[in-house]
Amino acid sequence: MNFIPYGKQTIDDDDIDCVIEVLKSPFLTTGPKVQEFEKIICNYTDAIYCVAVANGTAALHLASLALLGKDDKVLTTVNSFLATSNSLLYVGAIPIFIDICEDGNIDLDICEEYLKNDNSIKALYGVHFSGNPLNQNKLKYLRNTYNIIILEDCAHSLGASFDGVKVGSCKNSDCSILSFHPVKHITTGEGGAITTNSKEVYEKLLLLRAHGMVKTPDMKPWEYEMRELGFNYRITDFACALGISQFSKLDNFIKRRHDIAKIYDKAFLNTDIKPLYPFTPNSSYHLYVIKVDFTKLPISKEELFIKMKEANIGLQLHYIPINKQPYYKSLGYGNESTPMMDSYYDECFSLPMFPALKDDEQAYVIKKLLEILDA
Ligand SMILES: Cc1ncc(COP(=O)(O)O)c(C=O)c1O
Repeated sequence: MNFIPYGKQTIDDDDIDCVIEVLKSPFLTTGPKVQEFEKIICNYTDAIYCVAVANGTAALHLASLALLGKDDKVLTTVNSFLATSNSLLYVGAIPIFIDICEDGNIDLDICEEYLKNDNSIKALYGVHFSGNPLNQNKLKYLRNTYNIIILEDCAHSLGASFDGVKVGSCKNSDCSILSFHPVKHITTGEGGAITTNSKEVYEKLLLLRAHGMVKTPDMKPWEYEMRELGFNYRITDFACALGISQFSKLDNFIKRRHDIAKIYDKAFLNTDIKPLYPFTPNSSYHLYVIKVDFTKLPISKEELFIKMKEANIGLQLHYIPINKQPYYKSLGYGNESTPMMDSYYDECFSLPMFPALKDDEQAYVIKKLLEILDA
């Protein structure tokens, strides 16, 4: 069996043809494909505005610049990729790390306790972890009751929805961000996007994406004006061409992810392996996370990872708690009480989950896992 990673892209010949077409065209960047891609994202998510950028981290950085100021306190999850809270540090904001619920998502009830006790908290950065959306009614309630800014990190959750509210629609938030890294639902190689329903935020994002630079029709032919300290976070036209082609397959990709999740769920019934949450069509299953109580088994998590790797199967742990990273510890973080995250870290890890995973490969993953765990 060839190596089976926990996630990878699905690229077909027609995706490649779309990229080649742009490579032969006059515009490799700042051309028409960028706006076409942004329009498709708006149509899909129901958001009014979209700004496509170089990657999801750039999307978080720009959104944070548009939404926050220095020393703003922001509630965020311990269970995410580094980029979510790093974007707060980029703009001088102050992350407050919050524990998770059973399903790996930030605990919004704990967030409310913080908001009740500290009216200087400015914002909440939530992640729809693994593709399973946060409760939109609760986000709406927190936003309205405590007058906070909300950013939804949707890097895991394109195509997910909660009670008819699509992830990325910003119905109950100020900005959402997406990532198009190869392990995500669709890919542009590297790539990301910000969606918003605020014209003001949108215009700021456009400015910041390209050096804070403006060129208007009344200017002399050579003139341009820098009005903000911006960046070059542009995405190329050939990356957008790939993204456009991938979008036409997104619904099928998600359907395939659902099928894979159902097969895993069924295989683990009556074993020591529990899915992180029962099957829900709300989730777009970027990750398939399982829970195993290693104290009851003859093998440690580390031994399991090694043995599965020897069997050519890539497991991954999403995530090491961000507040425990050396850099965050050097800033004084790491001692927060996060009992749910502690047990999540001991028990949970991700299995291979991607649309191109073949049935026989999934059967092999299941067989090896049950065999090695003796579960
Ligand atoms: C939750 C989350 N947010 C943000 C990012 C950053 O996205 P990118 O890798 O496109 O910069 C990632 C990437 O894995 C992620 O998982």
